[in-house]
Amino acid sequence: MTQTINIALPKGRLGEKACTLLRDAGFDCPGAMEDSRRLVFENPENGVRLFWVKPSDVAIYVERGAADLGVIGKDILLEYTPDVYELADLKMGRCRMCVAGPRGYRDDVARTLRVATKFPNIARRHYDALGRPIEIIKLNGSIELAPILGLSDVIVDIVETGTTLRENDLEVLDTIVDISARLIANRAGYKFKHEKICEIADGLAAVGKKV
Ligand code: PRP
Repeated sequence: MTQTINIALPKGRLGEKACTLLRDAGFDCPGAMEDSRRLVFENPENGVRLFWVKPSDVAIYVERGAADLGVIGKDILLEYTPDVYELADLKMGRCRMCVAGPRGYRDDVARTLRVATKFPNIARRHYDALGRPIEIIKLNGSIELAPILGLSDVIVDIVETGTTLRENDLEVLDTIVDISARLIANRAGYKFKHEKICEIADGLAAVGKKV
C-alpha cells in the first residue's frame, strides 16, 4: 500500500516554486497551482497530498505531525526554532536577514538601541552576541516605516532585492545571516515514512541542482 505523505506549502511565491520543484521531481498534484480557494490537493498515484498554509504556520503543521514535510524559510526556523528535522536546503527564496537604518546612520552606544522587527528572537540573539543593549519593538509588517517615523533607530528585517530599503532612504548596516527555503520533516513521520520521505527529499535536491 502506498503511504500518503502530507506536505505543507507556504501560500505565495515560495510555495509555488516549491510546488513546481515537486512536480519536476515526479510528485505532481494536479490542480495545486490553479487559482482557486481549495486548500488540499491529493494525487493517489504518487501518494502525495499538498496543502497551502500561511508561511508562518508551516512549522506548526510539521511539528505537530499534521504534515510530514514542509517548505519554510530559514528565517522562520531561526525565529521559532520548531522541533523538526531540517532535511535540505532547497536553494531558492534566497535573501538576507539584515540590520538596516537611515542612510549614514551612526550608532550611539551611550543609548539603548531601539530595534523594530518581525523577528524579535533573531534580533535579540544578534545583539546579545555583540553585548549591545536593545529595546525590541515588535511589528507585523511594513517594518521600514519604523525608523522613518522615529519609532525605532534601526530595523532587523529580510532584504531580498534591496528595493524596499532604497525606496525608503534606508540602507543595510549589517548582515546577520543568509536565508533560503528549507525542507523540514516531522520527527516521527521521518522514522515511519522514512523511505518515501527520503525519495521526495532526494528528488527535490536533484531537480533543485538543475534550476
Ligand atoms: C519583505 C521584507 C521587506 C521586503 C524586502 O516584506 O519585510 O519589507 O520584503 O524585499 P526587497 O529587498 O526585495 O524590497 P514582505 O513583502 O514580506 O511584507 P511585509 O512588509 O508586510 O513584511
